[in-house]
Amino acid sequence: MSSHPIRRILVTSALPYANGPIHIGHLVEYIQTDIWVRFQKLRGHECYYVCADDAHGTPIMLRAEQDGVSPQELIDRIWQEHRADFADFLIEFDNYYSTHSPECRHYAELIYRRLDASGHISRRVITQAYDPEKRMFLPDRFIKGECPRCGTADQYGDSCENCGATYSPTDLKNPRSVVSGATPVTKESLHFFFKLADFETMLKDWIGGGSIQPQMANKLDEWFTAGLQEWDISRDAPYWGFEIPDAPGKYFYVWLDAPIGYMASFQNYCDRAGLNFDDFWKPDSTAEVYHFIGKDIAYFHILFWPAELTGAGFRKPTAVNCHGFLTVDGQKMSKSRGTFIKARTYLHHLRPEYLRYYFASKLNDGIDDLDLNFEDFVQRVNSDLVGKLVNIASRCAGFINRRFGGRLAERLAEPALYAEFVAASESVAQAYEGREFGRAMREIMALADRANQYIDEKKPWVLAKQAGAEADVLAVCSMGLNLFRVLMVYLKPVLPGVAGDVERFLQIAPLRWNDVDTPLLGHAIAEFKPLMQRVDIAQIAAMVEESKEGRAEAPAQNAKAQALADDPIGPTVSIDEFAKVDLRVARILKAEAVAGADKLVRLELDLGGETRQVFAGIKSAYAPEDLQGRMTVMVANLAPRKMRFGVSEGMILAAGGPGGIYLLAPDGGAEPGMRVK
Ligand code: 2FM
Ligand code: ZN
Repeated sequence: MSSHPIRRILVTSALPYANGPIHIGHLVEYIQTDIWVRFQKLRGHECYYVCADDAHGTPIMLRAEQDGVSPQELIDRIWQEHRADFADFLIEFDNYYSTHSPECRHYAELIYRRLDASGHISRRVITQAYDPEKRMFLPDRFIKGECPRCGTADQYGDSCENCGATYSPTDLKNPRSVVSGATPVTKESLHFFFKLADFETMLKDWIGGGSIQPQMANKLDEWFTAGLQEWDISRDAPYWGFEIPDAPGKYFYVWLDAPIGYMASFQNYCDRAGLNFDDFWKPDSTAEVYHFIGKDIAYFHILFWPAELTGAGFRKPTAVNCHGFLTVDGQKMSKSRGTFIKARTYLHHLRPEYLRYYFASKLNDGIDDLDLNFEDFVQRVNSDLVGKLVNIASRCAGFINRRFGGRLAERLAEPALYAEFVAASESVAQAYEGREFGRAMREIMALADRANQYIDEKKPWVLAKQAGAEADVLAVCSMGLNLFRVLMVYLKPVLPGVAGDVERFLQIAPLRWNDVDTPLLGHAIAEFKPLMQRVDIAQIAAMVEESKEGRAEAPAQNAKAQALADDPIGPTVSIDEFAKVDLRVARILKAEAVAGADKLVRLELDLGGETRQVFAGIKSAYAPEDLQGRMTVMVANLAPRKMRFGVSEGMILAAGGPGGIYLLAPDGGAEPGMRVK
């Protein structure tokens, strides 16, 4: 294997806002970046991954006010939550910091002063919407009214969700402030602007130099054609952020200090780790700096940011890597469908590495959206990780543990096959380097197929029963485990937790990329423990259920009246139609919870000789053990329905609404099987 010069690399992901939880949409980026960083470290490079909370701005200020806490309390709490979510998804930052920090203030002021001193800041008075009650200027998103084009009510100040028109908030009909409900007035104020156009030539050169993806370069051409506008970097008090030096009552706009947060987090890390910040940020630095972001914030990262850096005497990023958005089952994430899944909710049901692997298998270096399809997810995890990868180890380990005292063979049985696995190293590495993770996963899984095929051919379980074939069993299983070890090196950036378990099982030091060159021979391994469980679609169903909006909401106060109002009597049915419904008295013989379904109970019903299975959504009202033995009424001739958990052969009757669920029961004396008329 060739040896590489050691690179010095600084990597960032976009800073999440400090006013909401991390969700699976965010995770595409953090998982992508984390895999790339872990790969670089595994290869022996000096690589640092820093991030932070994006802690400033009007939404955070107002959210804190709404929650009755100070902005500081809000951002402290969210910072803890974000850190825990990332850690549990095995996203390993070298530093996770905040833009509300002394380092960030320092660099924001420094960059601003340098830009100002070089004439890149202009000042002029502008007119904006103002809330006279709340006494604050209103960002476009905080004004609502009727669309000036189509008249749809309740539209934001910048665009209409109904007809797609874009306009300025002063065009809205009957505008009102989302904050106080007051009618906004217009008011003048002095603002500070960054003169982006000063950097047009530099930006064109930089962009031509391969620092951004071709799809983004096209987007940029549009922006250049439209003309580079001056960028408003100031906001008036009250604002939650850093005050602009020598400008009382004026604050830096949140997007001014957000990317500076990358520097702040790194500076904070340098101070602790004894690194030199300037080695990475001075204009002629030979270190590499990469930003991973979503395509929606490209304008800030490939125009403003490199321009600001240049104007303030810092280096530009080596590259800005954009990715697309996440869709779930082909659609935008939705709270009502339960596909707006928080990181924490996912973790209640599934292992983080399933998602890491799934995203890896679908990621490439482009900006197309990525779809999380639940069936595909289950299939891919079960077939690739459990069926192919882990299977190799579980088929071989037992024999080594039980028959050979846990000691691997002294020699490789098939050096040529092993060499094939090692030979893939550079190609897999290139795929990781180029963010072609999907290709890397496919190559690795093709090798896993090859390893399983080898074991299938050699059949150690057959050899184990043959007299005198002991040495062959040892040879085959040692070979299998060595192939498995190579695969684990290749997958370690994606599956760091599994890799850790494998290192403990093999009793070896943390795996590094070059370890594939040297097989593990004459070495004692530990007892094998199962490395990964299959995913069940019921786990997904439970996760989606937990993610549904309003699920945990308390019942309405006057629940009965509310239920009636929500549920007026529907259209009539004829007596003949009604007669088709075969209602019978039934006795509940057995009732049990359904794993993975919060609301369902599985019932076995006695219909007077015949037993039926029915799944009923009454778990919120009845503990299964309380249902056993009770009498109820069921629809006996409902066409059977295949559900995820089994076939439901009928339906029991219950009254229900926001006020609760009430099982219907016949008076005492009724017998199972009796017809209900
Ligand atoms: O879009 C966002 O969520 C921003 N908080 C991203 C900031 S990235 C960087 F510039 F800080
Ligand atoms: Zn409209």
